[in-house]
Amino acid sequence: MQQAAVLVIFGASGDLVRRKLVPALFRLFLKGRLPEGLRVLGVSRTPFTDSQWTAHLREHLPESLSPEQEADWNRFARRLHYQAGDLTRPEDFQALARRLEELESEQPALRVFYLATAPHYFQQAIQGLIAAGLNRHRGGPPPRVVVEKPFGRDLESARSLNQQLHRGFEESQVFRIDHYLGKETVQNILVLRFANAIFEPVWNRSFVEHVEITAAEREEVGTRGATCEATGVLRDMFQNHLLQLLCFTAMEAPNRFEADAVRNEKVKVLDAVRVLDRQAVLQETLRAQYRGYRDTPGVAPESRTATFAALRLWIDNWRWQGVPFFLRSGKAMDCRTTQIVVQFRQPPLQLFRQCGGVHAGNRLVIQIQPAEGIQLHIQTKVPDAGMELTLTDLAFRFDRHFRGRMPDAYERLLLDVLAGDPSLFARSDEVELAWRIVDPIQRVWDQEDQPPLYFYEPGQWGPEESKRWIARWGHQWMDVCPVLE
Ligand code: BG6
Repeated sequence: MQQAAVLVIFGASGDLVRRKLVPALFRLFLKGRLPEGLRVLGVSRTPFTDSQWTAHLREHLPESLSPEQEADWNRFARRLHYQAGDLTRPEDFQALARRLEELESEQPALRVFYLATAPHYFQQAIQGLIAAGLNRHRGGPPPRVVVEKPFGRDLESARSLNQQLHRGFEESQVFRIDHYLGKETVQNILVLRFANAIFEPVWNRSFVEHVEITAAEREEVGTRGATCEATGVLRDMFQNHLLQLLCFTAMEAPNRFEADAVRNEKVKVLDAVRVLDRQAVLQETLRAQYRGYRDTPGVAPESRTATFAALRLWIDNWRWQGVPFFLRSGKAMDCRTTQIVVQFRQPPLQLFRQCGGVHAGNRLVIQIQPAEGIQLHIQTKVPDAGMELTLTDLAFRFDRHFRGRMPDAYERLLLDVLAGDPSLFARSDEVELAWRIVDPIQRVWDQEDQPPLYFYEPGQWGPEESKRWIARWGHQWMDVCPVLE
């Protein structure tokens, strides 16, 4: 890309910037993929100079650098600039506008404003940008605004954030982040489904018995106590990441591989997800908290915030009528794994039912992370054992087929923002529909003692009740930790 660009990052002294955004930019720089004319301007209240901010970022880089990379870092750091600013002060936005003009002395640049602040500052930042006229750029391309998650904390606040954005920006200028969409394995779901002819004929209610989507994390809440307490697992993981995985798994093939065509299909799935009434919330959801969570700094001693949840969702359309989608996510689980299990039905005629061994339907397991890959579980004859059957798998692993590490999701997302491709970002209707699904559940949970809050020891697959809950419908979770070599 030849166009000069300035990436303005609000919240520049924060954790996300040093842990994710700057390391991703640096890796792109090392790979030679960072647009030549790109500069980064960090903005936050901390009174850093350019070099102090750069030193702060260098100190917190998650990986150690070889002497060669150290020299690369120094070259990269020349593109980093800093401006102290307070989002509540209109004059600081005016100062930002002047600084941008200085940085763009040769030609008007593409301006990208990245909101990486705490979420309660988003409204203020958008308002400040619009009031200072930074939503327009005379002579330059239309500025873009990137909004980190969480996008609102319920349907009403998400709507109001959308309305505020649309007061100054066209939808095409807005990029709402869900970093799961930047993961290679998530994008690969579309390739698996729509670049291969063999899956589509069986990808429906006639062949699929149920679908299970799990995002398990081993880590406890740690230093994020206050944030988790205010958010809870439903808002933190389901409204965005898990529903995005559900959309990719359940959507129809778009007519074209273009942002709006793909997003239209996702919106149709979200629109078809049955909204649960109070009675259904009690039956179709389960919540739990790990023991020890209440001792975390920032967490109330009597907290009833869920760190684990499981939902049974229904998609009311022709393809998926009657197929349950089980979604679960938790902190302090047995291991870290994000996976989608498509459980197929047993064959119509059980030809080998008299024979010994394991008799199970086929299963396609899409491993999103950390053992990125795909396994197809199939029935096989055990050799030299009469007609005994067992379940074996055909397995594909990204790391065995492709050299090099999997890129971080933010690398792809940052490049896409700079290139103006919104395919991997959530559209306004998408986030609102996702809140429409999550809100009624959260509302019942916030008001009632039912469903009960269960407890689990850290290092388990959630509470024991979760196994009984899914067994009620004749299913069981696939509780298998991925093998990492
Ligand atoms: C974030 C959540 O969006 O995703 C965190 O706020 C969670 O609570 C994280 O830990 C998980 O992301 P990943 O990429 O590690 O699965």
